[in-house]
Amino acid sequence: MGAQEVREGFVRLYGAEPEGVWAAPGRVNLIGEHTDYNDGFVMPFALPHIAVAAVARRTDGVLRLHSADLDSGVAELRLDDLAPGSDGNWTAYPAGVVWALREAGHQVTGADIHLSSTVPSGAGLSSSAALEVVVALALNDLYDLGLQGWQLARLCQRAENVYVGAPTGIMDQTASACCEEGHALFLDTRDLSQKQIPLDLAAEGLRLLVVDTQVTHAHSGGEYGKRRAGCEKGAALLGVDALRDIAYADLDAALARLGDEEEVRRLVRHVVTEDQRVEQVVALLESGADSRAVGPVLTAGHASLRDDFRVSCPELDLVVDTALAHGALGARMTGGGFGGSAIVLAEAADVETLTKAVGEAFAAAGYKAPRVFEAVPAAGARRLS
Ligand code: GLA
Repeated sequence: MGAQEVREGFVRLYGAEPEGVWAAPGRVNLIGEHTDYNDGFVMPFALPHIAVAAVARRTDGVLRLHSADLDSGVAELRLDDLAPGSDGNWTAYPAGVVWALREAGHQVTGADIHLSSTVPSGAGLSSSAALEVVVALALNDLYDLGLQGWQLARLCQRAENVYVGAPTGIMDQTASACCEEGHALFLDTRDLSQKQIPLDLAAEGLRLLVVDTQVTHAHSGGEYGKRRAGCEKGAALLGVDALRDIAYADLDAALARLGDEEEVRRLVRHVVTEDQRVEQVVALLESGADSRAVGPVLTAGHASLRDDFRVSCPELDLVVDTALAHGALGARMTGGGFGGSAIVLAEAADVETLTKAVGEAFAAAGYKAPRVFEAVPAAGARRLS
């Protein structure tokens, strides 16, 4: 849905013009999975799929929220009543952002918000971060808060962690807020320092496909928290602030020190090798080498997520195995796992065969047909009008 449609929807709903319209994208992560809550490295880029919000300020302490995509009517909330854990609906994301802004001392006195999103939900492509960031950016502009993208990302993460109650890292919100068109974002999640890495795979005759398996396994939320707790245990046993502090060169020594803590050893091995893979991909892309060399690094990342971190699932493994068997240069699950999406790096000439093969493999396994689209790095959050 475009800016004009969302603006018109706002007028129909609230009977006045909005003060502006903003957009924030979903993301796909090229490499660096389950590293962000270990203070490590990630490398996402923005998708063309966006959440769009038309917004106007209010002065009476009321927040009105409406989504064009759902049949749920207008939610009307009092700012003074906003409290963590009080809302189990989609409205918790935008309301959580308003709560986080006010908690941080920013003078937000209310808003009317009308939203619409093209980011598929439950696909591991950060539809919730897009919702959070678009609201944060709009309020930042309208209330003249002067916050930078990374600061908005931190507030949105707080909304998600504390208000919504999902223990996620900082990658998705930072990607949505800070990505730039034509670039992947090399992000150090410890201090949020960033580098925009040009990524033009088409120029090399390559394509990056996103394969949305259209499944979300029910236990995904709890398992995410368990992995996070396991990583924290590993860091504590090794006497470091976060697993990011274990250098790749010291990995074997660290694993030896973990003795018979087999589960923690596997988590540590994934995180430390994954950070190394991010650095490898950055080095490859920056060296101007043939980007085909990135493929095996992606595939190694998948093996690590599947075997060590154990967050893959049969559908994601089937995408990866089928793609690789049909000429893909590399493939891996992307995002939190337990369903959602995989990415596939392939020669442009192989895309058709490969897509067909994945579809057939899914049909043969009795799975719902996957959704496949090509991903090209798009712009981060911005004002549309
Ligand atoms: C989800 C979380 C992110 C990150 C990824 C795994 O997308 O929201 O913070 O932890 O999983 O890399």
